[in-house]
Amino acid sequence: MEKLKGLILSGGAGTRLRPITHTSAKQLVPVANKPVLFYGIEALVDAGVTEIGIVIAPETGDEIREAVDDGSALGAAITYIPQAEPLGLAHAVLTAEEYLGSDPFVMYLGDNLLRDGITGLVEAFRRDEPDALILLTQVLEPEHYGVAELNGDSVVRLVEKPKDPPSDLALVGVYMFKPVVFEAARAIEPSARGELEITDTIQRLIETGHQVEHHRVKGWWKDTGQLADMLEANRLVLEDLEPHVAGECVDCEIVGRVVVEEGARLERCRVRGPAVIGAGSRLADSYVGPYTAIAAGCEVIRSELEHSILLAGASISDLPSRMEASLLGRNVRISRAEGLPKTLRMLVGDRSEITLP
Ligand code: G1P
Repeated sequence: MEKLKGLILSGGAGTRLRPITHTSAKQLVPVANKPVLFYGIEALVDAGVTEIGIVIAPETGDEIREAVDDGSALGAAITYIPQAEPLGLAHAVLTAEEYLGSDPFVMYLGDNLLRDGITGLVEAFRRDEPDALILLTQVLEPEHYGVAELNGDSVVRLVEKPKDPPSDLALVGVYMFKPVVFEAARAIEPSARGELEITDTIQRLIETGHQVEHHRVKGWWKDTGQLADMLEANRLVLEDLEPHVAGECVDCEIVGRVVVEEGARLERCRVRGPAVIGAGSRLADSYVGPYTAIAAGCEVIRSELEHSILLAGASISDLPSRMEASLLGRNVRISRAEGLPKTLRMLVGDRSEITLP
């Protein structure tokens, strides 16, 4: 198999990550201080797939273009493919048909993260040349995913988010296809949620006698579409962190695997890794616990936090108790009013969630 293109889907409304996604694409939310989408691009590049189309939505497309640019910083050559409406993953494939042409391709959902990348899978696809190669993994709640039914080693049926799942094997958001997939995508009808489903498209390939193979994901896999998954992805990526302190630490206790980026300044802090503190952030008299990622230009003053993600420019000071399992958007400010009365004063955006002790 000669050339293999990449197709990353980076549209989608990100409804389950609101309010962050009111103002920002879900694929750009950072995991261990790097946008989720970048992990996908890197996984493709590592597998030798450098010619990549990114399908973008009208609302978030510009932001994605700005972050990824022409892809050269990541070793890729990116082409942007606007999808006017979110009509499903198979619709996105059809939207990209002209770009993909007659080349086989790897499709990667921009909010998915795979610990071990996709190099082995891409090699298997190149070697065996099936019409489609899908990835499967065991999950606890298969009804939230596309689900595969196997007979021995063959895939006999695929169903999208079934109420009564035939197995606990979910479809992971990485798929490899030959161009015959376009024909199948054109032949299916929209699902109950009004989308052209990629799962139905692959089912169609099976029904029309095409060769659909599967692989099991070995390392962990996360679809970062919701807060809990995002925090879990952050935890998993930080588990593999290489410690490196480039910033300044004055009277601090740094324990475990911690990255302090260039230009960050910590005074009288205790940091227990794995944790990463972004460039230019300022921390004082604070505790940063495990699984915390603080982006660039943040401020943490007289506060304790752990298992949380702070986006660029977020600031917390004088928190009355430890903050955990939290995601703060860009430039969010949380502080404490001085003196009496002890009131709560807030300016909070649509769909924000605040839990008080
Ligand atoms: C999509 C696919 C589903 C797959 C999942 C993986 O779901 O439709 O089959 O299991 O991605 O992340 P969605 O994110 O559109 O709900």
